[in-house]
Amino acid sequence: MRIENKQRKIKVTIDTDQSNFRTLNNKDEPILRIVKINHGNSINENHSMKTTQSADQIIYFLKQCADAIKIQTNNPTVLKGAEIFSQRIKSPTEKQFNPHLLPVIAQIEHLSSTPFTFNFQQIVTDMVWRPSPRTDEKGEQMALGIFNEVLDLGDIVVGLLVVDKHQSYPLHQHRPQELYLVLSGTGDWRYGGSEEFNTLVPGDVIYNHPNDLHGVNALDEPILALYVLWK
Ligand SMILES: [Fe+2]
Repeated sequence: MRIENKQRKIKVTIDTDQSNFRTLNNKDEPILRIVKINHGNSINENHSMKTTQSADQIIYFLKQCADAIKIQTNNPTVLKGAEIFSQRIKSPTEKQFNPHLLPVIAQIEHLSSTPFTFNFQQIVTDMVWRPSPRTDEKGEQMALGIFNEVLDLGDIVVGLLVVDKHQSYPLHQHRPQELYLVLSGTGDWRYGGSEEFNTLVPGDVIYNHPNDLHGVNALDEPILALYVLWK
């Protein structure tokens, strides 16, 4: 099953006034809260420690992702990973956390709307976004949304990968096995032990064995993907 990749666009712009949030309400476009971004810093001093409400929305989003993975794959290894993921997000302990944004989050104005992006919009500004340790750039073109900073997920690692259009997330490898669920954007992915890149669309699920080299090249729109690593 493939989830249709509709080409509606989500508008994200940087708020330039002093309010934390305001809403863009254009008939033709989904609504996304807009946030002032201080490059690389927390949103501002008033937007302090977050918990319960944000965590509930994040758990809801993660459950949507877990269900989609189970529907999408019949690979027993991926299903096992998805089941572990589902267990960890059933009633995780919430952490106190400071939302943290990066410039690329405001630049994803061409993120295509998919069945996942509405719930993503609800959490994007409450997330903890970090630059990737695998690149030198500081969150201008790509970012990782670290769910483990928000929820106690035990021994698994769960995050969102954002790669701006025409940017590449570098080839890398690691010991834990990993699954990805593509949430928005079309890109060329290397995964699963292959040396070739294949084009994936929203709804696709891929699996990396331990130490498989993997990476992604975003095409004409930003990539948003969920990743789960487990032992
Ligand atoms: Fe990885």
